[in-house]
Amino acid sequence: MKIAVLAGDGIGPEVTAQAVKALRAISANNGPQFEMAEAPIGDAAFNQHGDPLPPSTAEMAAKADAILFGAAGTYESDLRPAEQRGGHGLLRLRKQLDLYANFRPVFAFPELLGASSLKREAIEGVDLVVLRELTSDIYFGTPRGRGVENGQRHAWNTMRYTEAEVARVMRAGFEAARKRRRQLCSVDKANVLETSQLWREVAIEVARDYPDVELRHEYVDAVSMHLIRRPRDFDVIVTGNIFGDILSDAAAMLTGSIGMLPSASLNGEGVGLFEPVHGSAPDIAGKDLANPLASILSAALLLRHSLKLEAEAALMEKAVRQVLAEGYRTGDIMEEGATRLGTEAMGDAVAQAILKLK
Ligand code: NAI
Ligand code: MG
Repeated sequence: MKIAVLAGDGIGPEVTAQAVKALRAISANNGPQFEMAEAPIGDAAFNQHGDPLPPSTAEMAAKADAILFGAAGTYESDLRPAEQRGGHGLLRLRKQLDLYANFRPVFAFPELLGASSLKREAIEGVDLVVLRELTSDIYFGTPRGRGVENGQRHAWNTMRYTEAEVARVMRAGFEAARKRRRQLCSVDKANVLETSQLWREVAIEVARDYPDVELRHEYVDAVSMHLIRRPRDFDVIVTGNIFGDILSDAAAMLTGSIGMLPSASLNGEGVGLFEPVHGSAPDIAGKDLANPLASILSAALLLRHSLKLEAEAALMEKAVRQVLAEGYRTGDIMEEGATRLGTEAMGDAVAQAILKLK
């Protein structure tokens, strides 16, 4: 089983190394074997090869059975034109591989309720999925650009969706809801945007094939409030690329930290890409401070969804919970009485827990 490891920028390589460690622990003592090969992406790739997604990286990723991704981009490159932007390498890879369904499970670990800035009663039992459409929307719509008119700088982007793009992600959402609590919340801004009106129409049409799943619609601004106020009311949230980006960072706070949120980007047939929801975190990069659990939990999703190794995926998740239950924490989820670990030590702790649990 071939895994392409694209660690990228900032804390990407630091957290990805811990996920690789966890995968090696799964392989130990006659476990399944993985062929892991690294390739450059992001600012690191642009600085080395003049391209944030070198053709050799794209090719290697497309041929792999699964992709383990870290993070791409830095604050300096974010403001450059697209082709020089580390983060654009990731956008292109998602688009090239047509990874339209980005599942972001938001689970409040019972072991971690004290680490959130929210009240324990509010987050206890939270178990939802944000399904973010990943290959369309204002991220990719044209025309886009910048110019000068009458001495004024101006800039424009286009939010665009086709009915096929909405239907396929909606279908993925209904399928996911069927395996869960059968509630789907479609999030849009249909009171303002034509794209959202189309989104809502298609949601209703697709729902006809899923009479066993309850569909409701909410506006994105209201959801950003409801997510914090009554997060247990959500099962599967399906939304567009930009709304999903923003809502899932808010949802991360229900778990205690953005460093706890994994994701799986899938299209139902081809290679899947697995990455933590967070970015390259330049403020803590190179300091052994980053929480590697989102990356490790992404590796668990990789085992489950791309390699069909359910038992091994569950084992990896159990190991994470055990380490949390033993009171080990990185700085972002630190609590009174807990033992603070750096990135490497947390990775070691999870790898050891995997070996012990086997
Ligand atoms: P970010 O997620 O990198 O960081 C936001 C805050 O969360 C920072 O204070 C950071 O220290 C903290 N944080 C993030 N991950 C953490 C972890 N594992 N453990 C502990 N704390 C963690 O988002 P930001 O600051 O908006 O973006 C930083 C760079 O990353 C930018 O260049 C951005 O374009 C890029 N980015 C890349 C993404 C990707 O590759 N998928 C996603 C989001 C941002
Ligand atoms: Mg984001």
